[in-house]
Amino acid sequence: MATSIPESMRAIVVHEAGGPEVLRLEQRPVPALRPGWSLVRVRARGLNHSEVFTRQGLSPSVRLPRVLGIECVGEVAATTDPLRLPVGQKVVSIMGEMGRAFDGSYADYALLPNEQIHPIESSLPWEALAAIPETCYTAYGSLLNLHLEAGQTVLVRGATSGVGMAFAKLARSMAPGLHLVGTTRSEARTGLLLKGGYDDTVLDLDGTLQVEGRPYQRVLELVGPATLRDTCSHVSAGGIVCSTGQLGGVWYMEDFDPIVDLPSNGFLTSFYSGNVDEERLAGLISYVEEKDVDVGPAAVFSLGHMADAHRFLEGSKGFGKVVVTE
Ligand SMILES: NC(=O)c1ccc[n+]([C@@H]2O[C@H](COP(=O)([O-])OP(=O)(O)OC[C@H]3O[C@@H](n4cnc5c(N)ncnc54)[C@H](OP(=O)(O)O)[C@@H]3O)[C@@H](O)[C@H]2O)c1
Repeated sequence: MATSIPESMRAIVVHEAGGPEVLRLEQRPVPALRPGWSLVRVRARGLNHSEVFTRQGLSPSVRLPRVLGIECVGEVAATTDPLRLPVGQKVVSIMGEMGRAFDGSYADYALLPNEQIHPIESSLPWEALAAIPETCYTAYGSLLNLHLEAGQTVLVRGATSGVGMAFAKLARSMAPGLHLVGTTRSEARTGLLLKGGYDDTVLDLDGTLQVEGRPYQRVLELVGPATLRDTCSHVSAGGIVCSTGQLGGVWYMEDFDPIVDLPSNGFLTSFYSGNVDEERLAGLISYVEEKDVDVGPAAVFSLGHMADAHRFLEGSKGFGKVVVTE
């Protein structure tokens, strides 16, 4: 089954690693349908720092030329699963090697495996919808895993990140009465955190927080293994730490003794956006729409200006989602 689909489409193709100028706008054939995959008409896509790294040649597994883009929102244009993914169905897709092992969302159409195409219902404009997957979904999943309760003091380590800012917006709306504290390494950015929904800020200058005792009942750890041990030392008994990010550039821990380092009767959890739970994703989208939660985007570009979008992303230092529309 298919709608009327043109033979060729616009695509942003990277042939060699480099600066934003290597993102070349080209005409390419629209990918042909194959068993188990469906064609999505991409209406908008959120950008991610991982795409900047791939463009720069820092993703060794990615072979060039490649159409980048690890997430998108759009409609099914041609399908091999008409029951779950009928033509015209609104969909979201995230991760699953899109834009890495196979061509991604920086094009008018993307051919994607059916299992990573998720049907959704929403009347949000495309650019608002595109700000939700990945960053906001990661914040939401982490938030649910933290089991927040009114009155708690919650620390977000790496709060100026896209995930940290989305977390503040969602937490404010979903669990009123929290005391939200965010860290940044930069004094100059504390004002932006307060404007973005945080009640208080702590400077995180050398990986050791200058904080007395164990004031936090919940922590979203986005700096990751580089600071997790120090984070745990500030969490009260029975507290929960959700380690979701790796901003500190350290991926594993060697010097962590769970018996000693975890807070007394506490919990350590995580969240991975690659494990998409369709119900959770749909729940997030309808929550954002119904409650009118302002999750972005911070900036919107059109597909023909992808290089400008990458320049903006590289210079934006993480405040809000950058979205590229048609
Ligand atoms: N688990 C998952 O499924 C999942 C999904 C999405 C993202 N993530 C992870 O979540 C984290 C946040 O992602 P994002 O896209 O929101 O990040 P982002 O917007 O790129 O974050 C930028 C922020 O990171 C902070 N930062 C940069 N280097 C740092 C360092 N060495 N130590 C401490 N802070 C540093 C900076 O804060 P200051 O300069 O203000 O300190 C900056 O504002 C990343 O580690 C990402 O990989 C995980």
